[in-house]
Parts: sequence; C-alpha cells; structure tokens
Amino acid sequence: MNKLTVKDVDVSGKKVLVRADFNVPQDENGNITDENRIIGALPTIKYLIEHKAKIVLCSHLGRPKNGFEPKYSLAPVAKRLNELLDGCVTLAHDVIGEDAKAKAAALKEGQVLLLENVRFHKEEEKNDPAFAKELAQFGEIYVNDAFGTAHRAHASTAGVADYIKTSVAGFLISKELDIMGGALEEPKRPFVAILGGAKVSDKIGVINNLLEKVDSLLIGGAMAYTFVLAQGGKVGNSKVELDKVDLAKELLKKAQERKVQLLLPVDNVVANDFNANADSQVVESMKIPDGWQGLDIGPKTAENFANVIKNAKTVIWNGPMGVFEFEKFAVGTKAVAQALAKSNAITIIGGGDSAAAVEQLGFADKITHISTGGGASLEFLEGLELPGIARLNDKK
Ligand code: 3PG
Repeated sequence: MNKLTVKDVDVSGKKVLVRADFNVPQDENGNITDENRIIGALPTIKYLIEHKAKIVLCSHLGRPKNGFEPKYSLAPVAKRLNELLDGCVTLAHDVIGEDAKAKAAALKEGQVLLLENVRFHKEEEKNDPAFAKELAQFGEIYVNDAFGTAHRAHASTAGVADYIKTSVAGFLISKELDIMGGALEEPKRPFVAILGGAKVSDKIGVINNLLEKVDSLLIGGAMAYTFVLAQGGKVGNSKVELDKVDLAKELLKKAQERKVQLLLPVDNVVANDFNANADSQVVESMKIPDGWQGLDIGPKTAENFANVIKNAKTVIWNGPMGVFEFEKFAVGTKAVAQALAKSNAITIIGGGDSAAAVEQLGFADKITHISTGGGASLEFLEGLELPGIARLNDKK
C-alpha cells in the first residue's frame, strides 16, 4: 500500500479523529450479532491509546434517513468497545453538537470518545464540505480505518481529509489492502476465484477484472443460470437476467481467449417453490425442468469445485453458492466453505454473505483473511479506486 499509516506519524498528545466501520448487525433487542468489524478496529484504537493520543471515533450504523433514531444509535457499540477497552470509551449524544464538542475538549491522553452515528446528519452522505469541516475540528490527524465504507465518498470517509493535512490509514485498512492487493497483484498460483450471489449485473466488473488475473473462475449462485442460458441450456423457473445473456456469452469468450478455466455448475438442487421447505431434486444444470428453480449447486458441482480448490495456492471467494439462508439449500455453500477450510492455500473471503456463511459454519478460524468489507471488497476486486483511501497521504 502506498499510503501513510498511523505508524508513520507522531500521534502522542494529539487529537486524532478515527473513522471506523461500526456498521454491525444487531438482533431485535439491540444485541450485536457479528462483532468482527469492532474487533477489526481494535488494533488501531489500542495503538492510539498506547501512544497517548486523544481519540475521537466516528462511524455510521445502518441507513437512517430522518436524523436521530434510537435504533441507529451507536450506544450498543460504545458499550461493547468499553468492555473490550477497559472502560476508557465515552459516547457523545450528538455528532458535531455541544455534547460532542464538550466531551472531545475534555479528553485526556489515551481516552476515547465515540461520536453518535454520522448519518444522523444528511450532510454525511452528501459529502457536504461544511459538515466535513465540522468533523475535521475533532482531529489534528485523521485516521481512516473504515475499510467496509471506503467505497463511499462521504464526509467522514473522504471529505474530512480535505481539512486535515495529516490523513493516514489505520491498521485494518492496511491489512485488507495488503492481503487482497497482494493476492491480486502477485498471487501464488494456481489462483482460483469463486463467485456466487444473485446477479451477474452486480459482479460484471469483478468477473472482468478477475478474468485478467486468475487461473480458474468458479461460478455458482443464481448468477450461474444466466451463464447456463447463454450456453443454450434450459433453466426452468430459475432467476435469470435476460438482458445479461449476451454479456455472459462475452465473458465466456473472454475466459476462453485468456485460457482461464471457467467452471459452471453441472448439476443443481432445484425446488418447486422459493421457500425453505419446498420439494427439491437434483438435476443436470442444462436441463432444469419447467416449474422448477435452481436454489443451490448440486453434489457433482460441489465436488468439482472442491477439487479445483484443493490444488489452488490462492483462493478468493465472494458470494454464496445457493440460498444458504434455507438449510436445505445451504449444502453447496457449506461444501465450498469446507473446501476452503481444508485447503493449504491463501484463502480470502470478500465479505458479505460468504463471510457470514463461513462464520455460521464455524470455519472462520481456518480462513487466511475474511474481509470486513462487502461492497468495498467487491469494488476493490473490480480494480476500482476506493475514495476513502484515495484521499489519504501518499508515502513519500
Ligand atoms: C457496509 O455494510 O457495506 C458498509 O458499512 C457500508 O454501508 P452502506 O452500504 O450503508 O453505505
């Protein structure tokens, strides 16, 4: 990574504004159900505490639209941070208001203040310069460690860097870029990518970019049916994007030209309805009967994919193989997760649903890197510049 990091600057005694991504899922009682993003932010926060900075943390949570709404408060995050950081964290009840300003001014070295949800101000998502300038008052140094939100050009992720001269990356962003960037630029080969999820249209950029880099591309999930159609197969009632069939043909051709092994499902688990208890059967992927829809890859496909993964030295996975929320159609996703867990390759999961699947299945500790970014890691895999990173100071 060619950006300065928090280690490259003297933070001692300084006011440091840190943008983290504390956008964590919660159950109906406000209990955090996946704290990986909080854990991911700890190395930067602990480093700043140890180096005696006065730390102001900020983040969004969810997508509030009407100012303060209790269900989008960062209070549960503040509580969890306090447990993890021995009680040195205070929560401000506003973002740029009197409470935040008074509490920030009272911070002593090694203490931490968490501002309320930056999206309680609509100016945040508009990257409003006046709002960015207000936020900038909380830091002599700006540290962006919100990898999960680095694809958003918002006031706290990008605009604020216009008003704080020293703007650097935190340890989480550095780690994400080093591992994923390293895999893309200098992969140990064979390099295998597995893509799944609902839509080809969401992944066009990723497929295009990865076809330039990988040795094998394995495609599962609902987006595979558009490719099956492009090859003249019958997809029954499966989800397809008819307007992307020509594009799928082009991508198949590109794979052939670049000599990339592109594997599509050879069999699927199909259902007579879209629900957890629908009747199901295994059929050949090119012959899905009318009235049936593919909801998972079949056993032969899972075996084919596992064999390719077994021989890989680098594997990147983004997107589930089927409707894994329904137990009955989670088998293919589980098989891929298991193949990654067993493999000796560098294994990287590009956030989102596949990260959740690996966590749920208990394989997380067997994976080299699980990205904290869903949308952000997809854009990174597409080869796009992330605005939250672009604005940070370059290494000299
Ligand atoms: C995410 O969960 O992908 C990030 O926190 C960004 O959230 P957003 O999609 O609401 O901008």
